[in-house]
Amino acid sequence: MVTVTNAADPASAPVIRAVEVVKRFGGAIAVDRVSVDVQRGEIHAVVGENGAGKSTLMRMLAGVLTPDGGEVLVEGAPLSGGPRAALEAGVALVHQELSLVPEMTVAENIVLGTTPSNAGFIDRREMARIAGSALAEIGVEVDLDERVARLSVSLRQFVEIARAVARKPKVLILDEPTATLTPAETDYLLDMLQRLAAAGMAIIYISHRIPEVFRIGTNVTILRDGRLVTSGRLDQTTPGAVIDAMVGRELAKDLAIRREAHPGNVVLDARGIRAKKVHDVDLTVREGEIVGLGGLVGAGRTELVRAIVGADTRTGGTVTMTAGDRTRRIGSYRSAVNAGIGYVPEERRTDGAALTMTVIDNVALPNRWELSRWGVLQKKRIVEYVRQLAGDVGLRPPRITREVGEFSGGNQQKVVIAKWLGRNPKLIILDEPTRGVDVGAKAEIHRLVRALADDGAAVLVVSSDLPELLELSDLIHVIRDGRIVGTLSPEEATEKSVMSLASGERMVGA
Ligand SMILES: Nc1ncnc2c1ncn2[C@@H]1O[C@H](COP(=O)(O)OP(=O)(O)OP(=O)(O)O)[C@@H](O)[C@H]1O
Ligand SMILES: [Mg+2]
Repeated sequence: MVTVTNAADPASAPVIRAVEVVKRFGGAIAVDRVSVDVQRGEIHAVVGENGAGKSTLMRMLAGVLTPDGGEVLVEGAPLSGGPRAALEAGVALVHQELSLVPEMTVAENIVLGTTPSNAGFIDRREMARIAGSALAEIGVEVDLDERVARLSVSLRQFVEIARAVARKPKVLILDEPTATLTPAETDYLLDMLQRLAAAGMAIIYISHRIPEVFRIGTNVTILRDGRLVTSGRLDQTTPGAVIDAMVGRELAKDLAIRREAHPGNVVLDARGIRAKKVHDVDLTVREGEIVGLGGLVGAGRTELVRAIVGADTRTGGTVTMTAGDRTRRIGSYRSAVNAGIGYVPEERRTDGAALTMTVIDNVALPNRWELSRWGVLQKKRIVEYVRQLAGDVGLRPPRITREVGEFSGGNQQKVVIAKWLGRNPKLIILDEPTRGVDVGAKAEIHRLVRALADDGAAVLVVSSDLPELLELSDLIHVIRDGRIVGTLSPEEATEKSVMSLASGERMVGA
């Protein structure tokens, strides 16, 4: 790939530059002398494996972190004074993890930090005007007075973007904005970014989805282990070359030959399930079977699995779990865990991992009964056990004594997966298991899930990532408005057949 520098051309002076920036955490170096130039109207993709340093670099560009070396220049002027100064200089960051205040309204969140006031009182009309026009600019309709806690994850994401756009930034940075969106919402967002770029904004954009990067990106910067691998124009490279540069080796072509599924007895039997957003769903999963739940974000898939495991209240229906010759009713989350159900929730930051605890404690936690039997003297054995699992999911860096919150987003997800895989669950329920996980680790997690099923576990997967859903599932139920609207065998399942059911374009057989 050719590295393009436009320093000699004043008409295309970069609007933001990182010059040899360095960031260390403790002794470890997260970003090592990385330089990037971004110009007006450019959509600059930043890619790399989990832990490569992408978010850290973005936080430096947006003034959230101060570089330990090098500097960030916005329109030629050195950036200092934190995120507020960066915003004033025209740099807005949409964080990887949602950062809205759930108890506040949409409008309050959008103006947060720059709340208009009049003689000491919040100027509500001005607030509504600013928030309304930011939402209009991105073309999203949502009630300004609604509390953010009540919005779907994808709407929150759009509100977060509206908040950044409300600042009228020269540089808009988005850290994995599409991870929580459906394909249709993703399309919408990508078109919107192209529109903003065409109007002269510089966009910096992180994604693990290489096709997206090629669809809208003009330039790409590839990071690996905190270092810049290369930077250049996207029309001068190929997806294969970008991925190879990210992982630093040729990725073994995923020989995803379809697994021969041999489903056995019914393990999970859910009948007539009713709950908030779930209407009378029957669902079974058998030994050795991977059942996928497809549908649009907001269709009720998460609500359905939460009702099944007893994490949310059911208003109707029964769930039984059969392991060996024992059948138990699942009435509460505790009974689900006791019956051998593993559950990897969608929201890892709130219900998946204890961020201030170490990897060892997180992974050992759901297994504490078995492990405590080994006693204090068996500490070494626990460490071995966790180290093995961390290796299986490709934790990077593999430092299991470190707090989970210190890992990159994708690596936090790997911890949550490891926690359950080690328990050899009879049934494992995975809600968006590889969201934010890089291509290599994703393939590894898929391999582990298939291996679990091959060993006889029943698996239920919710995924908005269609290739993932198609690749893993032995059977796909498509959910719309809280109901199963169609069931597809591997032969019938294609991106098209799943999407048309999910969006209600047709019912099966119609
Ligand atoms: N607050 C922190 N304390 C300690 N280490 C950190 C902290 N934040 C990030 N790191 C480390 O810095 C490195 C880069 O992390 P970063 O979050 O920038 O990765 P990333 O490329 O954004 O990954 P992902 O794709 O998983 O989001 C990782 O090794 C990570 O563990
Ligand atoms: Mg990140």
